[in-house]
Amino acid sequence: MSDERMIDTPQKTIGVLTSGGDAPGMNAAIRAVVRSGIAHGMKVMGVRRGYEGLLNGDLFEMSLRSVSDILQRGGTVLQTARSKEFCTEAGVQKAISIAKVFELDGLVVIGGDGSFRGARDLSTHGLPTVGIPGTIDNDIGCSEYTIGYDTCMNTVLNAIDRIRDTATSHERCSVVEVMGRNAGHIALNVGIATGAEVIVIPELPYDFDRDVLKPIFEGKSRGKKHNMVIVAEGVGGGVEMANRIEEMTGIETRATVLGYIQRGGSPTVRDRVMASQMGGKAVELLANGVGNRVIAYVNNQIKDFDILEGLSMKKSIDMEQYELFKILSL
Ligand code: F6P
Repeated sequence: MSDERMIDTPQKTIGVLTSGGDAPGMNAAIRAVVRSGIAHGMKVMGVRRGYEGLLNGDLFEMSLRSVSDILQRGGTVLQTARSKEFCTEAGVQKAISIAKVFELDGLVVIGGDGSFRGARDLSTHGLPTVGIPGTIDNDIGCSEYTIGYDTCMNTVLNAIDRIRDTATSHERCSVVEVMGRNAGHIALNVGIATGAEVIVIPELPYDFDRDVLKPIFEGKSRGKKHNMVIVAEGVGGGVEMANRIEEMTGIETRATVLGYIQRGGSPTVRDRVMASQMGGKAVELLANGVGNRVIAYVNNQIKDFDILEGLSMKKSIDMEQYELFKILSL
C-alpha cells in the first residue's frame, strides 16, 4: 500500500503524541497508530514534544516509511514533555484552536494518568481523543498493563541479579531503589522474581524495625549470607535506609539508585505486541467516529473505557502476591 494511493481517498486527519515520562514500546505504539491510520484511509499527523508541541503547532504528516525501523527502539521518536501551559484553561483552549488549524478530527495520546487528564480536557472541549496507557509504572487504574512495564521490569531484574552476585561475594546487604512514583508494582514483581528479602512500597505503610530490620535479623539467624532490600521511589530514601541498616545490624550495606536506566532500552516482545495492539485499537475507535476513550488491557483482552470512567478507576497492589513474597523470602 502506498501513501500516494491513500491521499486520493477522502480523509479524516488524526494526530498522535507522546506525553509525560517516556516508556519502551512507545515507538511501537506510534508505528501502529501511523500504519493503522493510513490503512484506514486517514492522514496521520505526528505532534512533537507532547502537549507542548501541540501548543506550538509543531505537527508534521507521518508516512508509512516515517515509522520504519523504530519498533525496536526505546524512547519516543516524537519526543515528550510535561507542559505547564497546557494545564491551564487558556492552554487547553489554545490547543483546541491549534487542532482546528491542522484540521484534526481526533488525537491519540500515549502516556500516563497526567497525559490522560490532558486528553480528557481536550475531549470535553470537543476534540475526540483516545488515550493509550504508556508508563513503566503500570499505575493506570483501568488497565492491568501499561506499555513499558515489562521492559522496565526486565531491566531492573538484570541489574538486581548482578548486584546480588557481588552482594553474595562480600556477604553484604544491598538496598536498591527502583522507579514507581506512587506505585510499587515494579518493586513487588521484581522482588518476587529476584528473591529479595524485603520490599518497601508506597501502597503499604511500613515500620523500619518490623518490616526491614526484623526480616534481616531473622534471615541471618536462619543462615542467610546476604540481603536484598528493594525500595520503591515513592517511598524513597534508599541511601538513608542503607546507612540505618548498617548502623543497626553491623552488616556492610550498600545502596544503588537505579534511576533512568529503567526507562530506556529496546522493548520486550510483550511491550511491542501490546503497544501494537493498543495503537491499532485506538485508530479503529477514531475511524468509527468513537472518541473520548482510553484503551485498557483487561482479562487478556484489549478493551476501551470512557475517559472519565477510566480516570476514576483505582488500582492497588495485589495483596496475595505480597503475602506470597513474604513466604518466599523466608
Ligand atoms: O512515571 C514514570 C516515571 O518514570 C516515574 O517512575 C518517575 O517518578 C518519573 O517518571 C520520573 O519522571 P521525570 O522524567 O520527570 O524525572
